[in-house]
Amino acid sequence: MKHITKSYRQTQKLGEQLAKAILQLPAPSRAVVLCLYGDLGGGKTTFLQGFAKGLGIKQKVLSPTFVIMKRFENFYHIDAYRMKDYKDAKDLGLPEIMKKPENIIAIEWPERIKKILPKNAIKINFKFISNNKRAIIIK
Ligand SMILES: Nc1ncnc2c1ncn2[C@@H]1O[C@H](COP(=O)(O)OP(=O)(O)OP(=O)(O)O)[C@@H](O)[C@H]1O
Ligand SMILES: [Mg+2]
Repeated sequence: MKHITKSYRQTQKLGEQLAKAILQLPAPSRAVVLCLYGDLGGGKTTFLQGFAKGLGIKQKVLSPTFVIMKRFENFYHIDAYRMKDYKDAKDLGLPEIMKKPENIIAIEWPERIKKILPKNAIKINFKFISNNKRAIIIK
């Protein structure tokens, strides 16, 4: 589904709505994995701020650029921008994290670790249109 947002708040709101929709689904048999693709500054982290809020997480999600992985209860936020390949994600213990059905994992720059992404991941594409405008495609 394609959405156009006209402010960072609208992007946060969209993330919040997706989280709430995911929580409504029957308990999954595998971890829910979100792959966030797209431009630098496209709004991936912004989207995840709303997403975490929708999951009921109180802490603020920040860009984990220098952290690579941050855990908030059963929600994991990964920024793979600085990863070389899937082996870096393996070293972080991502395969084990993805085995637990209660976990929800969001990955920015997932193309870096293609090899270990599950086939059923939710794919989200972010496109910069203008200063405050973004196209967000959820597949
Ligand atoms: N419609 C919009 N949606 C999302 N962000 C917007 C929008 N309009 C303006 N912005 C601004 O664009 C920036 C998006 O940055 P954000 O860190 O979310 O991008 P990112 O995709 O995570 O980038 P990176 O690849 O560097 O991690 C923020 O400063 C935000 O305020
Ligand atoms: Mg980011």
